[in-house]
Amino acid sequence: MSSTRRPQLHFTLLLLTYYCSTHIAANGDNGTTVQCLPDEAASLLQLKLSFYNPNLSSWQHGTDCCHWEGVGCSRASGQVISLDLSDRNLQSINGLSPSLFNLTSLTNLSLSGNNFGLTSLPRFGFEQLIELLSLNLSHTNLAGQIPIGISHLKKLRTLDSSHNFELYFNEPSFQMVIGNLSNLRELKLNGVDISRDQNNWSNSLANSVPQLQFLSLDSCGLSGHIHSSFSRLQYLERIILTENSISGEVPQFLTDFSSLSTLDLRYNDFEGQFPTKIFHLEK
Ligand SMILES: *[C@@H]1O[C@H](CO)[C@@H](O)[C@H](O)[C@H]1NC(C)=O
Ligand SMILES: *[C@@H]1O[C@H](CO)[C@@H](O)[C@H](O)[C@H]1NC(C)=O
Ligand SMILES: *[C@@H]1O[C@H](CO)[C@@H](O)[C@H](O)[C@H]1NC(C)=O
Ligand SMILES: *[C@@H]1O[C@H](CO)[C@@H](O)[C@H](O)[C@H]1NC(C)=O
Ligand SMILES: *[C@@H]1O[C@H](CO)[C@@H](O)[C@H](O)[C@H]1NC(C)=O
Ligand SMILES: *[C@@H]1O[C@H](CO)[C@@H](O)[C@H](O)[C@H]1NC(C)=O
Ligand SMILES: *[C@@H]1O[C@H](CO)[C@@H](O)[C@H](O)[C@H]1NC(C)=O
Repeated sequence: MSSTRRPQLHFTLLLLTYYCSTHIAANGDNGTTVQCLPDEAASLLQLKLSFYNPNLSSWQHGTDCCHWEGVGCSRASGQVISLDLSDRNLQSINGLSPSLFNLTSLTNLSLSGNNFGLTSLPRFGFEQLIELLSLNLSHTNLAGQIPIGISHLKKLRTLDSSHNFELYFNEPSFQMVIGNLSNLRELKLNGVDISRDQNNWSNSLANSVPQLQFLSLDSCGLSGHIHSSFSRLQYLERIILTENSISGEVPQFLTDFSSLSTLDLRYNDFEGQFPTKIFHLEK
């Protein structure tokens, strides 16, 4: 009898030790010893497996993922809140792993400067990352439609998807994706194709992102005039609309944007008198 019980007891003790080391530490008053949650560590390891050359040597099973390169945890809960994998030269095997979407407490995510081999973003999943404040997918060699899930990220303040020349907005449209992103402060989509939005891009922005401070839409296939509603975007500090086919006059109301410090409209089809008052703006 006792000989069959002992291994069980041993196992229970092991479990208890494991539980203590992961959970009691996580509840420490100091908050300095929180450890990551096993499910989240598993999701990160799954993500690591989705790259040919992970270059993430600290990401090891059985260690505290809050100490892994690029990973940041909440001191209170141990949940992963930031993931910065920018410029690691990661090469994706088969596109972005959906396991990423299990990290539902993420506030800051950057995958910038890695190579996703012209794969498309997963159609579903981004909508689970509802805490996101910042999403950086620039220089990732992604292709295809920007997924609708991004339209649900209502807390988003920064969206950078620049330098992905095969990404586009079609179905859902640009207007649909940004429609609810009313907290956006910074929007950079250089190279992303917005041409299917026809002439409505400036109107869509005006109606969706009233707090925008930094707009960069270089080479997005924009055309049409800058709509008069665009005058609502009065917090704009930097406007970069280079290398599009925007026509009409450069609107006078831009001179009323009191924080404007950069206005770059080169390589478009503007006509008429440039509002000279712009040169008198202090910033
Ligand atoms: C918090 O940490 C400090 C030093 O790291 C230690 O002296 C103190 O006892 C800890 N307090 C609690 C409640 O764990
Ligand atoms: C992510 O969550 C889904 C369901 O919520 C689950 O089926 C899957 O195993 C999880 N993936 C990882 C790597 O934890
Ligand atoms: C690995 O990542 C580091 C840190 O981001 C980067 O500087 C380095 O170039 C990468 N190494 C390789 C071989 O890609
Ligand atoms: C997360 O993103 C927000 C919004 O862009 C930014 O203000 C904040 O500094 C970022 N935090 C970290 C840890 O990068
Ligand atoms: C996105 O990441 C790249 C590379 O780290 C950086 O240069 C760029 O400024 C980031 N975008 C934003 C909006 O912070
Ligand atoms: C935007 O938010 C409204 C109200 O919450 C919702 O009805 C609508 O479906 C959302 N649109 C998108 C594109 O997410
Ligand atoms: C243009 O944008 C406005 C505001 O976002 C929207 O109400 C309207 O339906 C759009 N028009 C077209 C033709 O897409």
